[in-house]
Amino acid sequence: MPTIRPYDLADLPGMYRVCLQTGDSGRDATRLYRDPDLLAHIYAGPYPVADPGLTWVARDDQGVLGYIVATADTPAFERWLEDAWWPGLRERYPAELAADPGDGTEDWRRVAHIHRPRRFADPLHEPYPAHLHIDILPRGQGAGLGRRLVETLTGALRARGVPGLHLGVGSGNPRALAFYLAVGFHEERRGERGSTMTMDLRT
Ligand SMILES: CC(C)(COP(=O)(O)OP(=O)(O)OC[C@H]1O[C@@H](n2cnc3c(N)ncnc32)[C@H](O)[C@@H]1OP(=O)(O)O)[C@@H](O)C(=O)NCCC(=O)NCCS
Repeated sequence: MPTIRPYDLADLPGMYRVCLQTGDSGRDATRLYRDPDLLAHIYAGPYPVADPGLTWVARDDQGVLGYIVATADTPAFERWLEDAWWPGLRERYPAELAADPGDGTEDWRRVAHIHRPRRFADPLHEPYPAHLHIDILPRGQGAGLGRRLVETLTGALRARGVPGLHLGVGSGNPRALAFYLAVGFHEERRGERGSTMTMDLRT
């Protein structure tokens, strides 16, 4: 039975592996990356560094098998990324690497994101300022772990008085969409590339 524990610094390498192994719309993205850390530098690593109290890790006897990461305040988190997180990565992954080498790898897209993160004043950020990412390896899926991780996070956000939570799910990941609906999210917007899901935490 996997255990869920608050994040510890030593969990970070395992979290990076889980991020890569679930990073292709829920499937293993290892083949898509020359650099195995790039995806997690964007979607996993910065969250526990910015606010370690909003990350939980699921472990079994083989190590980290899943996690949930979040920020309570998306606009403040984006400012923190600009000040503290992106500068080092921009040095390590220069903008020249944001060109498609044409071999099917996706590193260049992530490098482009590091240099030009999509930031916009979304009216949804006021009622739903928190956002999350959740990933669980196949051996831990379908056994209620995702629900437990979401409930752990929403409990902590409610305790902090955060009014709402949002997230994005790609159109290539219908399983995740079904999961979010099952655990209480509402599909707020649907576009070609995916959906924005919201959860009101005041109820
Ligand atoms: C999506 C993910 C987090 C779900 O976690 P999980 O532990 O497998 O889900 P759970 O077992 O906790 O399921 C919770 C609920 O969602 C429902 N659900 C999960 N997958 C579903 C599916 N494919 N279709 C319909 N319902 C589904 C379950 O039936 C369950 O409902 P119930 O509690 O009312 O019975 C997990 O499968 C995962 O990490 N996948 C790979 C990475 C990924 O896609 N992350 C999301 C990126 S946006």
